[in-house]
This record gives sequence, structure tokens and C-alpha cells, in this order.
Amino acid sequence: MTTEPTIEVHLAPDQLQENLRSDARIGLTATPKWLPPKWFYDARGSELFEQITTLPEYYPTRTERELLRVSAAHVAEATSARILVELGSGSSEKTRLLLGALTEHGTLETYVPQDVSDAALDSAVHQLAREFPSLTVHGIVSDFTETLHNLPRGGRRMIAFLGGTLGNLVPEERAEFLGSVAAVLEEGEQLLLGVGLVTDPAVMVPAYDDAAGVTARFNLNVLSVLNDRLGANFDPTAFRHVALWDERNQWIEMRLEATESVEVWIPELDLGVNFTEGEQIRTEISAKFHVDGICKELDAAGFGSDRVWTDPRERFALVLADRVA
Ligand code: SAH
Ligand code: TRP
Repeated sequence: MTTEPTIEVHLAPDQLQENLRSDARIGLTATPKWLPPKWFYDARGSELFEQITTLPEYYPTRTERELLRVSAAHVAEATSARILVELGSGSSEKTRLLLGALTEHGTLETYVPQDVSDAALDSAVHQLAREFPSLTVHGIVSDFTETLHNLPRGGRRMIAFLGGTLGNLVPEERAEFLGSVAAVLEEGEQLLLGVGLVTDPAVMVPAYDDAAGVTARFNLNVLSVLNDRLGANFDPTAFRHVALWDERNQWIEMRLEATESVEVWIPELDLGVNFTEGEQIRTEISAKFHVDGICKELDAAGFGSDRVWTDPRERFALVLADRVA
């Protein structure tokens, strides 16, 4: 018998609106201008991201899926997790491989997907509850940089953080985030982390600048979010998508560039924002890693005994790390 999935919301609509107002005001009055990436993911943004995952240029998803396919049984063997928490779970599409192996292994009772996108989470929990009738599926709508303390306690847990989303945090945020993940876990509980590795820019850049223009639509969607939620009058056709490899920082950077001079009015903020021709907004970074580098960062945060899986071309890594004393 299937138990109805449940969803818990830790982002009240007025809180979300307040956060967006504050982020937009800070980012759009800064020099250079920037916006935090979580605002990409309204219902349309989450849908566009799902399209990105199927693009020929976007190798991370299929590479990570393959790694999960070969490692799932080993992960299940190495953990006796009763609760799997997944941060930034999106559609939970690849997680099925893990859920399959963990339920077969016999310990897993509960799956807790967490995401800032209520639309993505809602459809994922219903589908998964149907597919895995033996599991309790409990979704949490929240911001993973703010509300890790809301995660369920008591019982062996594994936290999964896949899709290279760790790389979307700047290094200081990343260290703080890994530290808070370690802080909520008890000794012996685990983190399963999926990160992109540094590889040829000729491979990395097209993954964030595809020929069909889906990533461009995804990036530009953040302007529509500002229009919808703050009443702004951005004309998305006056901006173009830019993706580049920043060698020094070892990250892909996504920007929106004004193709002409643009004046925007944001009624909800009582704020006018001007762009000169060619001016850019930084909307996202996607840092790439070396295996020894990410293991060091995990070590510094309080994890150890890492088991690492990489694909033959070393473009992506899956790391299973234990919370150590
Ligand atoms: N894990 C999925 C999705 C990766 S895309 C995969 O591997 O395919 C990044 C996901 O993180 C999106 O679903 C987005 O909604 C979510 N996200 C981004 N910033 C977030 C934040 N601050 N808090 C919670 N979720 C966030
Ligand atoms: N976590 C994904 C990544 O870094 C997010 C992502 C993929 C993304 N393509 C994007 C974010 C394009 C912004 C724009 O690979």
C-alpha cells in the first residue's frame, strides 16, 4: 500500500518574497551587478533545468547517473542509512538508482527530498511515493543554506547532495555549508556528494552554453522571475547569455549581458536600475574540482574515510564520506 507523501514548508511565501526583495536590491545596486542563483528555480526554471539535463552538451547529469549506477550497490553496502535526505533534489530523477539499491539492501525507511522549488518537489514526491511504496516520502521546501537544522534526527542518516550543486556556492559559502552539514550529522552518518571535475574547457563551456539555447533561456528566466514577483519591467530580449571558464577561480561563470543601454524600474523596491551597453549581471558560478581538493575540503569540514567514484574520462566524481569525530 502506498502512503501519501507529505511536504513541509519552511519558506513561507512572504519570507520568500522578502528574501527576493533583499537579494535583488543588494545584487542589482552592487558593482558589478549580481543575483543569487536560487531565484532561477520557479516552476518554469525547474522545467528548463530538467531540459538542460537531457542536452547532448550537458554531460554532468548522464555522467553522474552512470556513476550512481555502478556505485549504488556499494553505497548501500557501505551504509546502513534508514533515512536518506537529499538537498537540492529537484526532480530526484537520478536518486531512483540509489533508492532502488537502498531499499533492496533493506535498511532504508524514509526519503526526505529538500528543494527551494516547491513545484519540482511536489511532482517528485508524488511520483516517488508511487514508485517506492515501502518508503515514507517526506519533502521539505526550504533553503539549504539556511535551514539544515530542520532535517529529521534520530536514526542513521545519509545526506545526498548531487548534481554538482556544491559548485554553485562561492568558496566561503561552500566551506560554511559543508561545516553545517557536518554539524547536523552524528559520527558515522554519511554525506554522498556529486561534483564536477576540472576538465577541458572545450567540454565544460558548451555544457553551460548549448547550441539549442536552453541554458540561455534558463539564465534569462531569472529576469522573468523579477518581472513576475517584483513587478519589474526587464525586457529579456535586451540581454544575452554569457558563459565562460574562469581559469583562476576554476569555475564556469554565467552572466547576463545588456546588448543595449537598458533602464529598468522595479516597483516593489521603488528602485530604478540602469545598464550600459555591454554591462553584465553575474547570475551563477559552477565550480569544478580536483579529487584531492574536494577530499581536503571534506576533511576540513569534519568528514573522512572518503570513497570516490569517477568516470573513465574523469569529468565527474561521486564521493561517499563519513562524519568523523
Ligand atoms: N539534484 C538535481 C538538481 C540539481 S539543480 C540534479 O542533480 O539534477 C540544483 C537544484 O538545487 C534545483 O532543484 C534548485 O531548485 C535547488 N536549489 C538551488 N539553490 C537552492 C537553495 N539555496 N536551497 C534549496 N534548494 C536549492
Ligand atoms: N548544478 C548545476 C551545475 O552547476 C546547475 C546548472 C546547470 C546551471 N546549468 C546551469 C545553473 C546553467 C545556471 C545556469 O551544473
